[in-house]
Amino acid sequence: MEFPVKTGAPARHRTECAILPVFDDGQLHGATKEFDRAARGAIAKLIRAGDTPARLGSCTLVHRTQGTAAARWLLVGCGKRAEFSPKRLTTALAAAIHALRTGGTKEATSFLGYGTSLEPAEAARYSVEAARATLYRFDELKSKTDPPARLGRLALAVESGTNLNEVRAGIKVGSAIAAGSDLARDLGNRPPNVCTPSHLAETARTIAKRYVRMEVKVLDEADIRKLGMGALLCVTQGADEPPRLIVLEYKGAGKEAPVALCGKGVTFDTGGISIKPAPKMDEMKFDMCGAGAVLGAMVALGELQPDINVVGVIPACENMPGGRATRPGDIVKSMSGQTVEIINTDAEGRLILCDAITYAKRFKPRCIIDIATLTGACVIALGHVYCGLFCNDEDLAKALLEAADRSLDLAWRLPVHEEYGDSLRSNFADFANSGTRDGGASVGANFLSRFVDGFSWAHLDIAGVAWRANANKGATGRPVPMLVDYLLNLDGQ
Ligand code: BES
Ligand code: MN
Ligand code: ZN
Repeated sequence: MEFPVKTGAPARHRTECAILPVFDDGQLHGATKEFDRAARGAIAKLIRAGDTPARLGSCTLVHRTQGTAAARWLLVGCGKRAEFSPKRLTTALAAAIHALRTGGTKEATSFLGYGTSLEPAEAARYSVEAARATLYRFDELKSKTDPPARLGRLALAVESGTNLNEVRAGIKVGSAIAAGSDLARDLGNRPPNVCTPSHLAETARTIAKRYVRMEVKVLDEADIRKLGMGALLCVTQGADEPPRLIVLEYKGAGKEAPVALCGKGVTFDTGGISIKPAPKMDEMKFDMCGAGAVLGAMVALGELQPDINVVGVIPACENMPGGRATRPGDIVKSMSGQTVEIINTDAEGRLILCDAITYAKRFKPRCIIDIATLTGACVIALGHVYCGLFCNDEDLAKALLEAADRSLDLAWRLPVHEEYGDSLRSNFADFANSGTRDGGASVGANFLSRFVDGFSWAHLDIAGVAWRANANKGATGRPVPMLVDYLLNLDGQ
């Protein structure tokens, strides 16, 4: 999709469809007011007749657009004017794109950010993200597909005098985040017989080839064994599908310490011998969404080429039952040297991540951020709105929460107090891999915290936000927007 920027008198824009905001105060503002004036009060009349609700996201398509250079108007409800925000812009534009998607419009012009309280560059970024997310489809495995959306161009109208370079920079950031989110969604949506550990590794190789300043290393089972990653190995050992440890580096800043991103890449989680119940088990193909988010963030960095260093470390494997699978009661030695008693083979994410975190420390990172669909308990705590943020460093927590707010990719801080580790006590090994269900998300975080030493560390539990269930089942691409926003704002910290 293309996003040209347009300036000039709104009603004179030649476009197949002008997307115009309507607020709930019964008044006309900004571009909508100018269109109404050019059309001799036609929009005010529609509003008076009650045909254009200001309810957020409601859409009214109008063809009789005399007096303006637009072939159609799409009037979009934006709610209360004083409450207009990036989130509202996103919701309104998504509704508009959805309404136009199947119609005859090939090109449209959005006036939703025109003359509002939002910075034009900010509005452009959110518009691009919203449009791309709305048009996303996953149909690579359908033999019969709907015809592709005709809408291929969305012009963004800004007031004359706006700094166009800034707006174009906003579009670039939005496009990069969209490209990264699309990849994260594709990887999540691919079935587990396609999206295997090797597929994740191939994807990392493709990224490293496509962009400059990228380097990739893929370790196989023998390499993993040499590193002494007994925790990762015990998860993969029941599977026929071979594991991979993927190391993808973005080097944009010489010798500076990198940010390390560790993404859980369980390409299918049956639970292992502690097997999960059948209902919804198909959704455990999404258990690699942490890995997908890391690869998505890397794509965004490749697009934007910021002067920073980032290393992605992705432990990838399946968690399967079988004659060679790890048993509850088995004790394994992690790469850190600490031994772990496996109480529940379904608590596998922390096992593969603890070795990835230990490996990431080799890069002497400025911080380690792990991203994982780690616990059902986090879904119970936060639902599908906020992801869980666990952090041992106040500055890092603040930076991540700010990035989450800016990118509309919300995170809520949860505790990592050491007492959450009490139930991980083991009589036979240094500690166990699972403890109480109560506070389970913090228990998982506590387990991981035992591997970070003195490093600044954050853990994002994305179990509730990485995919949607039910009719709209599919990966969301979260938390790519948060990660990219955080990485782009590293200076000044
Ligand atoms: N991948 C799951 C977590 C999960 C479950 C995410 C449901 C989203 C929806 C993880 O590997 C897991 O099974 N966690 C267990 C941990 C427990 C055994 C300590 C859980 O949450 O039940
Ligand atoms: Mn599990
Ligand atoms: Zn899992």
